[in-house]
Formats: sequence, C-alpha cells, structure tokens
Amino acid sequence: MSKEAIGIFDSGIGGLTIARGIAEALPNESIIYFGDTAHLPYGDKSATSIRNYSTAIVEFLIQKGCKLIVIACNSASAAASKLLAEQFSGIIPIINVIDPLVEKVEKEAYAKIGIIATRATVHSGVYVQRLLSAQPNLTVVSLATGLLAQMIEENYIQNTVRRALIHNYLSYPDFDDIEALLLACTHYPLIRSEIEEYWEGNIQVLDAIDVVAATVSTTLKQLGLEAPLGQVVEHQFYVSDYTPTFEQTAQLFYGTEIPLKVAPWQNGHILVPSIEDKLFIINK
Ligand code: DGL
Repeated sequence: MSKEAIGIFDSGIGGLTIARGIAEALPNESIIYFGDTAHLPYGDKSATSIRNYSTAIVEFLIQKGCKLIVIACNSASAAASKLLAEQFSGIIPIINVIDPLVEKVEKEAYAKIGIIATRATVHSGVYVQRLLSAQPNLTVVSLATGLLAQMIEENYIQNTVRRALIHNYLSYPDFDDIEALLLACTHYPLIRSEIEEYWEGNIQVLDAIDVVAATVSTTLKQLGLEAPLGQVVEHQFYVSDYTPTFEQTAQLFYGTEIPLKVAPWQNGHILVPSIEDKLFIINK
C-alpha cells in the first residue's frame, strides 16, 4: 500500500498549489490529482452538491488505488470533510485543508484575525467554529471574496484592475486591527505578494500549503504508509472537463507544464480511463 499514490482533489486547478507543496515536501511520493473542472466553481455551489461531487471523487481516487486522500479545496473541506470522514472511515485516511491551518493559528496567540474565502467556505462557518472552539476570546472576521478566484484563474494581470479589486476587498472596515489574514482558498497563494504589499508587512498572511504537506507527511509516517525510498515516482493529473485554457492555468498553479488527462462524469460517477484507455464506470 505504501507504494501507492496520494490522491488530491479540488474543484478545479486551484488545488494544484497544495499538490505542488506536497510534491516538493515529499519528493518520494506519487500523486494522483483530480480537478473537477466540469463543476467548478464549488464556491458558488450548495453544500449538498459539493458533498455529492466529493463522495464520487473519493471513490474515483480509491478506485485508482490511492493510499490517502487530501481534500485540496477549502469549499469542499468546509462542506464535505465531516461526511467524507464518516463515509470512508476505516477505508482510507482523508486530510482536509482547514484543520492544519486552524492548528497553525492556534499556536499563535492572536487577538483578532481575518479570513478571506469563497462564499461556500464563509457561509459554512466552519473556520470560525473551529477557531473559536479552541480560542473563545479570538475575534474572527470573515469576508467572501467571490471574484478573486475567477480573476486568478483567468490570469488577469492587468495591474490597475487587479490591484483595485484586491484593495477593495482588503479595505473591508472590519479588517481594521487584524494581526493575521488567512488565505482560505486554494487560489489565493498566487496573489500573496499583492496581499502582503497592501498591509505593508504589518500583518501575517497565512496559507495552508506548508501545513497540509506537513500533516500528510506525519499521517503517512504514523500509518506506516510512507513510500519506500528509491521507488519510481509518477504524478498523474485528471480533470473532469478538458480545455486548453485549463492546461495553461494548470501550469500557472503548478509551476511547470503538466499533461492533463480527462476522466469525465457519467450518471453521478467519474469514468476511469483504464490501462487500455477504454472507459468504464466505478462499481459502487
Ligand atoms: N478551490 C476552491 C476553494 O479553495 C476555490 C475555487 C472554487 O470556488 O471552486 O475554496
């Protein structure tokens, strides 16, 4: 089992920031990534839809032989991580992106922090709930910044508009006096420098990339699932809907060119391309 890949999924391409962090921290591990490009953005979907998609994706990754799964999407982590943990308990370990970031915040004794995320993540209230249960005196201000993920995915780098949009969100009056800002969306590490520039280095900007990779590493060690040294490392990247734009954007998020394979949806399941390149449906 230890030779098998780590399964990582997201609503689309954004989770590649997490996949890249894991690949860099654990160079001996293989990865199978699934981006649900047919259904993105998850940030605007209902919790019920996100849960249904997430369950089918985990089944797909199990079918592909993965040994551990990372929900590399804040919206899916917020809506589905509890359900997935119950559904797949004793079958496969599942790591979400919220718990490691919350634990990172808990280690610092902040008085007030801000969170920016998709609507689905903010409306779930999951971050606030988990942060306050550990630190009841912490003030947490969340803001849904719906346009940011789309702007980043479009690689929209026309500076005046991009800066104006970022600044408009960050100037939210309730963010006054925050000591740290949580980037609670897979896309936001790509605009980290602009966010830091806005606050001129006066607050800490935190994302989940390093802490998720560290959690994966610790979990693999604890479960005896670390890949044996010297094994052949292979990364595979699937999307549920392919366009050349996704391929270009994937490069932006992963840092290097990656070939995307297609595993489309059919009747609520993901079609798994077999070795012969034929398609068949996962048996439930
Ligand atoms: N990956 C999503 C997240 O981290 C952002 C993109 C989307 O809304 O699908 O919340």
